[in-house]
Formats: sequence, C-alpha cells, structure tokens
Amino acid sequence: MSGLDGEREPRASAAGAAVATAHPAAQPKRRTPAGRTVPGANYPPTTAPATFTLDGVAMVAEAGETILQAAERHGVRIPRLCWMEGMRADGNCRSCVVEIEGERVLAPSCCRAPRDGMKVHAKSERALRSQRMVVELLLSDVPAAPVWPDSELRLWAEALGVANPRFAPRAQPAPDFSHPAIEVRLDACIQCTRCVRACREVQVNDVIGYAFRGHDAKIVFDLDDPMGVSTCVACGECVQACPTGALLPALPEVVKSALRALPLSEGG
Ligand code: FES
Repeated sequence: MSGLDGEREPRASAAGAAVATAHPAAQPKRRTPAGRTVPGANYPPTTAPATFTLDGVAMVAEAGETILQAAERHGVRIPRLCWMEGMRADGNCRSCVVEIEGERVLAPSCCRAPRDGMKVHAKSERALRSQRMVVELLLSDVPAAPVWPDSELRLWAEALGVANPRFAPRAQPAPDFSHPAIEVRLDACIQCTRCVRACREVQVNDVIGYAFRGHDAKIVFDLDDPMGVSTCVACGECVQACPTGALLPALPEVVKSALRALPLSEGG
C-alpha cells in the first residue's frame, strides 16, 4: 500500500499550468461519500437524457453520460489522456477541455455532464488552443523519442497538429528495470494517474500511488520502492492503462524497436 499518497492537490505540472481558465477551483464541486469536496466533477450526474449541441450538432446524452462519452457515442472524438473507458474520471490532464456557452471557464468534458439546451464547443478557437497547449506542455515533459510506440499523447499531438514543444524539458528520472516483467520509464510519465486507478480501483492491489508535492510529485510503488521489490503482483493492469509507455512490458529491445515502427493507434 502506498503510504505516501494522501489527499491529491492540483498538479503543479505543465498541464496544470496550461489552462488558467480551467482551474479546478472554478469548476463545479461535488461531495464524495466521505464528505470531501472534489472540483470539476460530473456531479450531480444526469438522471435523465439531456439534449445539447456539440459544435452546432444536436445530440442526446444518456443518463449519467459525460459530454465526452456522449460525443464519443455520436462518433465525435474529443482529446483525452487521463480518461479511460471503464475507469473513474479523474479530470487531471485537461486535454479534453471544451467551451460551454455562458460559462466563464473551460470545462473538462470527461467529467462534466451535459444539460438540456447546453451549447458546447470542442473545436472553437479557444477550446482548441487550450487542448493544444496542454498537449504541447505534456510533450515537453516526455522524451523526444517515444519509449513505446502506442503513445496516446503522440496520437493526440498528431491529431491536434502539435509538433515540437516550445518549452524546456524537465529533469528526467532514471528508468527502473528492477521488475522482471514491467519496465518503469517515468521520463515518459504525464502523471495522468490511470495506473493508480488501475492498480487501486480496478485490481484493488493498491501498490501504485501518487506521492510528494508540486514539482516533486510522482508515481511511486509502495513507499517509493523500486518496482521489483514492491508488492506488485505483475497483473499488468497498469501497463495496459498507461497512455505513454511509462509502464511497459519488459521486452527485448529488438521487439520494442519493431513495435515502434508500427503506426499509432489509440488505446483510450
Ligand atoms: Fe479530461 Fe484528462 S481531464 S481527459
């Protein structure tokens, strides 16, 4: 169990700084069963279908759906990185922000419920500018050469026309090859916490946590142990959840090189 992982604070990372207009404090609040208030969430969830427009196209969201899910069902793809089908939305990356008419700030579409009559814009100049900025800042956090071919970050960068980031790279942590089945490459980590939710909420193993604060915040195993000596049971849930290859199968380099040559595909 990760003893370092306490109450989450807003990321002091690239993405967190990117969209001032989408600051969590400006988002609707919800109260968890434990009584804690969490910003930017899909609460209260819709209990009935809602009719809204997305980029001028009328859509009906089913009860409980978010804007992103309703758009997806209608064949419209909105960028997303920390959201993954089947997992609780965390709303931390802000790559999915949309503009809602009448609202001052952009909203994360992965954890925002549509309402009747809502006019949503995922492709307005303002929404696209913010989506691109988030992706560009996240790209500046990861190595220029992808560590894994199937990077959703690079897929969305390509889709949004974001190439070389203008921002200085961060200091990169050393890789961790201590586990026989899983490589840890936190230089490719964008701190979306999909691995944390996969480990804690899907598999209920609770090995992976998000520890430390601000600039030092990072993914940890148990009490910041090397993965190979942690209580990891090698279920692989975190590997399939990771959108950038920060957690990847420990394969021979020749196999990884061959995989890198394959075209990008989207896992989320
Ligand atoms: Fe919506 Fe990350 S905030 S996908």
